[in-house]
Amino acid sequence: MPMARRHVAGLVAFLFLLLVGHCRGGKTGICYGRNADDLPAPDKVVQLIQKQSIKHVRIYDTNIDVIKAFANTGVELMVGVPNADLLAFAQYQSNVDTWLKNSILPYYPATMITYITVGAEITESPVNVSALVVPAMRNVHTALKKVGLHKKITISSTHSLGILSRSFPPSAGAFNSSYAPFLKPMLEFLLENQAPFMVDLYPYYAYQNSPSNVSLNYALFSTQSQGVIDPNTGLVYTNMFDAQVDSIFFALMALNFKTLKIMITETGWPNKGAAKETGATTDNAQTYNTNLIRHVVNDSGTPAKPGEEIDVYIFSLFNENRKPGIESERNWGLFSPDQSSIYSLDWSGRGNVDIMTGGNLTNSNGTWCVASTNVSETALQNGLNWACGPGNVDCSAIQPSQPCYQPDTLVSHASYAFNSYYQQNGANDVACGFGGAGVRTTKDPSYDTCVYMAAGSKMSTMNSTTPPGRSSSGPSPLARCFTLLLPMLLSVIAAGIL
Ligand SMILES: *[C@@H]1O[C@H](CO)[C@@H](O)[C@H](O)[C@H]1NC(C)=O
Ligand SMILES: *[C@@H]1O[C@H](CO)[C@@H](O)[C@H](O)[C@H]1NC(C)=O
Ligand SMILES: *[C@@H]1O[C@H](CO)[C@@H](O)[C@H](O)[C@H]1NC(C)=O
Ligand SMILES: *[C@@H]1O[C@H](CO)[C@@H](O)[C@H](O)[C@H]1NC(C)=O
Ligand SMILES: *[C@@H]1O[C@H](CO)[C@@H](O)[C@H](O)[C@H]1NC(C)=O
Ligand SMILES: *[C@@H]1O[C@H](CO)[C@@H](O)[C@H](O)[C@H]1NC(C)=O
Ligand SMILES: *[C@@H]1O[C@H](CO)[C@@H](O)[C@H](O)[C@H]1NC(C)=O
Ligand SMILES: *[C@@H]1O[C@H](CO)[C@@H](O)[C@H](O)[C@H]1NC(C)=O
Repeated sequence: MPMARRHVAGLVAFLFLLLVGHCRGGKTGICYGRNADDLPAPDKVVQLIQKQSIKHVRIYDTNIDVIKAFANTGVELMVGVPNADLLAFAQYQSNVDTWLKNSILPYYPATMITYITVGAEITESPVNVSALVVPAMRNVHTALKKVGLHKKITISSTHSLGILSRSFPPSAGAFNSSYAPFLKPMLEFLLENQAPFMVDLYPYYAYQNSPSNVSLNYALFSTQSQGVIDPNTGLVYTNMFDAQVDSIFFALMALNFKTLKIMITETGWPNKGAAKETGATTDNAQTYNTNLIRHVVNDSGTPAKPGEEIDVYIFSLFNENRKPGIESERNWGLFSPDQSSIYSLDWSGRGNVDIMTGGNLTNSNGTWCVASTNVSETALQNGLNWACGPGNVDCSAIQPSQPCYQPDTLVSHASYAFNSYYQQNGANDVACGFGGAGVRTTKDPSYDTCVYMAAGSKMSTMNSTTPPGRSSSGPSPLARCFTLLLPMLLSVIAAGIL
C-alpha cells in the first residue's frame, strides 16, 4: 500500500503542477535592448530585473556577458540571432553548430534559454534577407536536435505589423502576398515545432501617425474608449492592441494556420518624444504598460479569442541613447541608465486602480439592446449569426424548448442575442450596432421565464456554463482553472484514500 500511496502522492503533485502551470495567466517579460553607451553592467541589470520580480527577458543577440549574468537567476531568456548573421547561419550548418557550442551550450541550462529568435523584423530590414531566414531557422533546429535541445528551446522569428498588407478591420487582416515565398515555409516550420508566431506591436505609432482617426483612449486601453466595431464579425474592439493581435490572428486563419499561438515580442510606449510627438509622455507610457500588464495577467484574451493566454514582452528596459531616428526612439525605457525608474509599474497586474478612469466599465444601468423591427430579415439573420458565432454569446436560451425560444421569430431571437452581446461588450452604442439592426431601449425586454441579461447581471437564464465572453463579471482565470481541475484532483485523492 505505501507504494500505491506514494504513487498517488506523485500523481497529486503532478496534477498540482499541471494546475499551477495552466493557471499562470499570460506572461509578461521585458526587452533588454543595449543600443546605448551608458548602461549598467549586465550583472547590475540582472539585479535590477530581479528586484522587479521580472521572470522573462528578451535580448537581441547572444552576448556572452549578458547570458552569463542570467545564470541561476530563474529568469527565462529569449536570445536572438541578428539579421546580420542570417547569411552565415543559412549557408553552413557548421557555422550554426559552432555558434551553439560556443555561445549557448557552455551557459545552458544554468541560464534558462527558452527561445531563440532567428532574425528580427526582416521585412523592415534595409537589406533583403528574407530568403535566408527559414534556412537559418532550420539549421538552428538541426543544431539543437543534435544535442537534444530541440524540445527545450523554441525557435521562431519576430515580425513587425508591416508584414500585413491590411490590418483593419481585424477580420480583414492579411499578410502581404509579396512575403509569401518565405512566410509559407516559416509558418509550416512553426506549426511543425509548436512554436509561436512572434510579432512586435505598437499602437503608439498608429496613434501618432493618425491622431485624428485613433483616439488616445483606444490606444491606451482606457475603459472610456468608445470602441470600434468590426463590421464583418460584429466584434467590438475597445483597445487597439487587441485589434492588432486579432488582425494577425485573422491573417493566420486566412492561410489556414489559425492554431499557431501569437506571441507579442515587443510592445510599449515612449516616455518622451519630439515636440510633435504629443502622445509620448511619462503618464501615457505608464498608463499603456499598466493596462497592458493587467490585460495580459487577467487572460482577457482578444475579442476573437476571449480568455486566450497571451505572452507579451514590454519594450524596453532602458532608454537607449544610441538609437537613431526621432526623439521618442531613444525613450522607450522603464528605467534610466542610472537605474532610476522613469515611472513605476505594477508587474503583478493585480492593482485595482484604473489609472485613466477609476474604472466604470458598465454604465448601462437600465439599457438593453434589441432587434429593430424595421430592417431586412437578412440583416437580422446576419446579426444573429455574428452574435452567436464570433460574438461568443450563449444562445442556448433561444433553442427549442428553452425559455426564450417562444415566440419563434427572427426578431425575438435576434433581440435576445443582440442584447447578450451588448451587455457583454461594454453596453455602448457600438455594441448595439449590428449594421443598423440593433436598437437601444430603456425598457426591459424580459418576459415570462425569458430573462434578458442586464448590466452587471450574471449572464443567462440557463444553468449552462457561461460563455468565455468579455464580461467583467466572469470568473477569474484562476477560478476557471480550479473549477476545471479540482474534480480531477479530488478523485485522485479519493482513490488514494480507498
Ligand atoms: C528578396 O529576395 C527574394 C529572393 O532573393 C526575392 O524573391 C524577393 O522578391 C525579394 N524581396 C524584395 C522585397 O526585394
Ligand atoms: C507589400 O510588400 C511590398 C514589398 O515590401 C511593398 O512594396 C508593398 O507596398 C506592400 N504592400 C502593401 C499593401 O503593404
Ligand atoms: C483617417 O481615416 C480615413 C478613412 O478611413 C482615411 O481616409 C484618412 O486618410 C485617415 N487619416 C489619417 C490621418 O490617417
Ligand atoms: C483583472 O481582474 C481583476 C480581478 O478579477 C479585476 O479586478 C480587474 O478589474 C481586471 N482588470 C482588467 C483590466 O480587466
Ligand atoms: C461611474 O458612473 C457613475 C454613473 O454614471 C458616475 O456617477 C460616477 O462618477 C462614475 N465613476 C467614475 C469613477 O467615473
Ligand atoms: C440603476 O438601477 C437601479 C435599479 O433599477 C436603481 O436603483 C439605481 O438608482 C440606478 N442607478 C443609476 C445611476 O441610474
Ligand atoms: C423605419 O424605417 C423608416 C425608413 O427607413 C424610418 O423612416 C423610420 O424612422 C424607421 N422606424 C423605426 C422605428 O426605426
Ligand atoms: C437551474 O437550477 C435550479 C436549481 O439548481 C433549478 O431549480 C432550475 O430548474 C434550473 N434551470 C434550468 C433552466 O435548468
